[in-house]
Amino acid sequence: MKKLEQLYEGKAKKVFRTDDPELLIVSYKDDATAFNGLKKGTIVGKGVINNRMSNLLMKRLEASGIPTHFVEELNDRETLVKKVSIVPLEVIIRNIAAGSFSKRYGVEEGVAFDFPTIEFSYKNDALGDPLLNEYHARALRLASADEIETIKRYAFGVNEELKAFWKECGVTLVDFKLEFGRLSDGSIVLADEISPDTCRLWDSKTGEKLDKDRFRRDLGGVEDAYAEIMKRLTTHI
Ligand code: TMP
Repeated sequence: MKKLEQLYEGKAKKVFRTDDPELLIVSYKDDATAFNGLKKGTIVGKGVINNRMSNLLMKRLEASGIPTHFVEELNDRETLVKKVSIVPLEVIIRNIAAGSFSKRYGVEEGVAFDFPTIEFSYKNDALGDPLLNEYHARALRLASADEIETIKRYAFGVNEELKAFWKECGVTLVDFKLEFGRLSDGSIVLADEISPDTCRLWDSKTGEKLDKDRFRRDLGGVEDAYAEIMKRLTTHI
């Protein structure tokens, strides 16, 4: 598959055209940002880890019946994916209070919910990705009612699969963010990435943070945490 011109550069990935109009190549960078790009840095080796981890997890999700954009890992940092038009919603599932949920509702981090929650934000950097509900998403024509139902079903399905898998690795899946896209036939697939950039992953025994919060909160040991979570994954997958 030939890598043609760059179509887009995001905060953590670049996207390239290929000679197949239905396929793209994504290339994972070591760049890290937080707080809508206000904080910038580099996490050495992150691109390689996120590429591998996202692909391994998406393959597992495909096997459990959740369609994804994943096609083939090309090398350390690059993956062939199906071309989608991204639904401009960040879909966040939470099992345990943390981050913006704790702040918004005044709940201590680490309080476990009786059932997982879902929330959406409007993927729009200029507006700071504001929270919205399903009615707002439909009013803004970001997604149809049917698409939102499909997205919710897939997102909770991803949670059940990943929660069980990370548990085997001695890791608690606290929360995560997903993005979905439409293929050329209009069907919805899981897109973007699943990585320590987009999930909160805590050591089940010690509660140690093994994700991007180490960067967001200047906790140190960022590279070591990414390496540790990757080690846990590869010894259990
Ligand atoms: P939050 O608690 O800051 O809302 O984050 C919830 C989850 O979403 C957490 O696992 C980190 C992930 N996330 C992203 O992947 N991208 C983002 O831009 C933000 C704000 C959060």
